[in-house]
Amino acid sequence: MTSVVIPQPDDWHVHLRNDEMLDAVVGYTARRFRYAMVMPNLLPPIVSTESAAHYRDQILAAAPNDAPDFSPVMAVYCSPLVDPNDLRAGIEQGVIAAVKYYPAGATTNSELGGTSLNDFAHLFEVLIATGSRLLVHAEATDPSIDIFDREAAFLTDQLAPLCDRFPELAVTVEHVSTRAGVDFVAAHPQAAATITPHHLARERSDLLANGMKPDLYCKPVINSADDRNALVTAATSGNPDFMLGTDSAPHPTTAKYGPTAKAGVFNAAYGLEVVADVFSVAGALDNLGAFVSGNGCAIYGVDTPETTITLTSESVDVEVATSLATTSGDEVVLFGAEEATRWTVT
Ligand code: NCD
Ligand code: ZN
Repeated sequence: MTSVVIPQPDDWHVHLRNDEMLDAVVGYTARRFRYAMVMPNLLPPIVSTESAAHYRDQILAAAPNDAPDFSPVMAVYCSPLVDPNDLRAGIEQGVIAAVKYYPAGATTNSELGGTSLNDFAHLFEVLIATGSRLLVHAEATDPSIDIFDREAAFLTDQLAPLCDRFPELAVTVEHVSTRAGVDFVAAHPQAAATITPHHLARERSDLLANGMKPDLYCKPVINSADDRNALVTAATSGNPDFMLGTDSAPHPTTAKYGPTAKAGVFNAAYGLEVVADVFSVAGALDNLGAFVSGNGCAIYGVDTPETTITLTSESVDVEVATSLATTSGDEVVLFGAEEATRWTVT
């Protein structure tokens, strides 16, 4: 038996959706995580202090009562709809914590995103003045660029020049998925990155080699074994620039299993088990607490938790749920059921 006690984790990148889907998924995040950076890619998107506050209220109303430490942290959608004065007010009031940039067309509900980071200097100036962060979905959308090279292309063509132009702008490379992304963070002191459970634990052969797996399809796509190795090293080494962001992104099976699968992996249920498994295999359980808690607390300047959780690996296999159902009858597949048969969280 292996057992590790760690501070209560935070999730620095999560999609909680709204309506029935919010009701169905929020408990998974709320019962395990303390802070959760909630992504704004709803329809309509979260673009103002008012809409962020309203969405936060909806999330807290939907959250279960037995999750008293859960605290959603709100990001607004980088778009021409964001007013810099409202952004500044929202940050100063503690309603808005960050701005999330989506390249238009890169992922789910990104149509209102940008075509160039350069168009949003007026918002980045507010982030610098208030000490807030720019969260970046780093993925080129040029169809002539190979899908597995799009993170590297975006970092070189867009984020590197932005970092040169605004050296005081703190940026998070969200769901970093490549060795190029890890190297980018190492080369830019103003940059940190979130890493997901699925990018740590799977590689593109898992996605494609034995029948295409829509449940592993997400953006940025899970990349090569070499890329995964770079992510595992970054996460397990204790490097303070890397933190857990699950990118848990539920889609109903009706949207996953068809001619075109929606991008997103729902891992809020078993993401911690998956990450513990990766750290255990790497012989790095001593650094698990830094990755899922300490590093993010330092990066976002929040207090460290007083509560802990215990992850235990036992040789006895247990039955675990493999999907959830919403009240409207949608089914969502839970990522990491295999790891969840090996680990328990208490
Ligand atoms: C996310 C979603 O479904 O909202 N999908 C995904 O594949 N990660 C959007 C995102 O973060 O790219
Ligand atoms: Zn996401």
